[in-house]
Amino acid sequence: MEQTTSIVKENIIEKLYNEHNLTDNELLYLLQTDAHDAELFEKADKKRKEIYGNEVYIRGLIEFTNYCKNDCYYCGIRRSNRNAERYRLTKEEILETCARGYELGFRTFVLQGGEDPYFTDARVCEVVSAIRKSFPDCAITLSIGEKSKASYQAYFDAGANRYLLRHETATCQHYQKLHPAEMSLDNRKQCLFNLKEIGYQVGAGFMVESPYQTPENLLSDLRFLQELKPDMIGIGPFIAHSETPFAKYKSGSLELTLRMIAILRLLFPYALLPATTALGTIHPQGRELGMQAGANVVMPNLTPVRERKKYMLYDNKICLGDDAAQCRGCMDARLKKFGYEIVTSVGNPRKAD
Ligand code: SAM
Ligand code: FES
Repeated sequence: MEQTTSIVKENIIEKLYNEHNLTDNELLYLLQTDAHDAELFEKADKKRKEIYGNEVYIRGLIEFTNYCKNDCYYCGIRRSNRNAERYRLTKEEILETCARGYELGFRTFVLQGGEDPYFTDARVCEVVSAIRKSFPDCAITLSIGEKSKASYQAYFDAGANRYLLRHETATCQHYQKLHPAEMSLDNRKQCLFNLKEIGYQVGAGFMVESPYQTPENLLSDLRFLQELKPDMIGIGPFIAHSETPFAKYKSGSLELTLRMIAILRLLFPYALLPATTALGTIHPQGRELGMQAGANVVMPNLTPVRERKKYMLYDNKICLGDDAAQCRGCMDARLKKFGYEIVTSVGNPRKAD
């Protein structure tokens, strides 16, 4: 019986490697079984190497505000967390941070923040155009949540070219268990389609093992991603934050997160797949293991150290004390050990010929 199972799983992995798709039953089977994970990871790593070689793209993450008008049940910077010490960077501080990042070889800046009403469209556009002017050879990524199509268009016209907005879960009932009633999955999905239509490179994604998540929910996530066809897919384990309604929930596991990365690499061979900070938080070598399971992007933190510990999405977040240069050096050394090489480029996704 055990032998039959492993033969079935090996065939499924081979099929996924060659065809980049599977039936619902095959996917459900694959994401629920840990037998032969090693082969799954090996095939995913092979696929990544066929397309991206041993190159790893870096993005410099600038967490520029932790004010948020939303109240997602999982998130440490939700508005109801009265104990979060709030901060926002000025335009000058953001530009200085970019300059420091540029010196260190970063050619993509990811401006991430809560949904902060202080950052009106005019202010976002001002920051984006200033970065565009000072760093014309860099990609500018925004990750500032759900906005109107007109706002997204304005940021794009000001010089932003990428946008990260995780869909969080593609199942309505599950979405409602993770968010208060004023937020809706339909709007989140619409935002993603609007961003694509405008011409952004788009990143979607979800947390692995967020509270109430079922294997069927994960399957829906994969199917939604096949419909959206994003350039980047960011996933990481859910990790509890002590000051949220989900404080007592178990964190997502390394095993399932790696398995999902590998499945994503084989379903979306050309996608940019980051090995996230959350993955590095649940295991000391989480990000390196993520690479070996098919990831090809890391996002070292460029946020000034004095503010870092305030952007606390979940407990025990790593890299709080290292400045930008240390983070960059640390990532270089870690990845080199595993045979990967960080490249200085904007790191666009490759496309099929
Ligand atoms: N406000 C923007 C948005 O909603 O897209 C960007 C910031 S938001 C904090 C960035 C991502 O952090 C979310 O999409 C979510 O998946 C992730 N995140 C939040 N809380 C988390 C937690 N407790 N564990 C793991 N990831 C979390
Ligand atoms: Fe800020 Fe979810 S709490 S977007």
